[in-house]
Amino acid sequence: MHSRTTRHSNGVKREPIPAMRTLNVDVLTLFPGILAGPLNESILKRAGEKGLISVRTWNIRDFTEDKHKTADDSPYGGGAGMVLKPEPIFRAFEALRAEYPGETMLTILLSPQGALFSHREAERLSKETRRIVLLCGHYEAIDERVRHSHVDEELSIGDYVLTGGELAALVVIDATARLIPGVLGDEESASFDSFTGGLLDYPHYTRPAEFQGMKVPDVLLSGNHEEIRRWRRREALKATLTKRPDLLDTAALTDEDGKILEELKKEL
Ligand code: ADE
Repeated sequence: MHSRTTRHSNGVKREPIPAMRTLNVDVLTLFPGILAGPLNESILKRAGEKGLISVRTWNIRDFTEDKHKTADDSPYGGGAGMVLKPEPIFRAFEALRAEYPGETMLTILLSPQGALFSHREAERLSKETRRIVLLCGHYEAIDERVRHSHVDEELSIGDYVLTGGELAALVVIDATARLIPGVLGDEESASFDSFTGGLLDYPHYTRPAEFQGMKVPDVLLSGNHEEIRRWRRREALKATLTKRPDLLDTAALTDEDGKILEELKKEL
């Protein structure tokens, strides 16, 4: 893969910019309208316009063949709820293969039974070169033969049950897309945000310096970059220790962090 290198007007060579990549996503769903709004607003819309992400939705109902466009049926063995029928979904996969001949695909089923989606998973998917197919379940379940023949992995966005996989697919697309180089501008950059390094974020302030009697911490007005860095790190550690101590087990911590944590534990 080639890379571009930019030069400042003063001739100073900058770090090479990685060659532009596109995250290709196809979503199989019974409700494409749920995805349309979020994909056509703000950062995801801009990413699409810049060619950094390409998201196409496919309506599973278009692959039904009966006059009522039936996509679900009652479960063998009885019980409540409906099951997504295999035939329309198998036909949708055939259509995908015909649309993208020779391309490799990674098919992910969104369901509460999946592995928990996390920042780490988003990082992995943001580097994916295969076409990502997100299959959204709806109703109670999906025929097991779909999972057996077409699904490479299963992801859940949390331990709760949504009405369908569409909102989960949007969460996966959004969290992944913002890690693609160029999707966020410099000022929104993903490299310093919450979870990079595994800690929660430190508090942020903007003007005015005093608002309704509440003052911005002096250190942030001091212009002392080293002190600001130390304050932010301490606040990030404090937030993580008090709100999500489990994250400290896997966070990338330095010796300095260890000392700060010991102090914080005594203080709190
Ligand atoms: N579909 C229904 N609930 C879900 C969840 N928690 N995560 C992913 N897909 C789902």
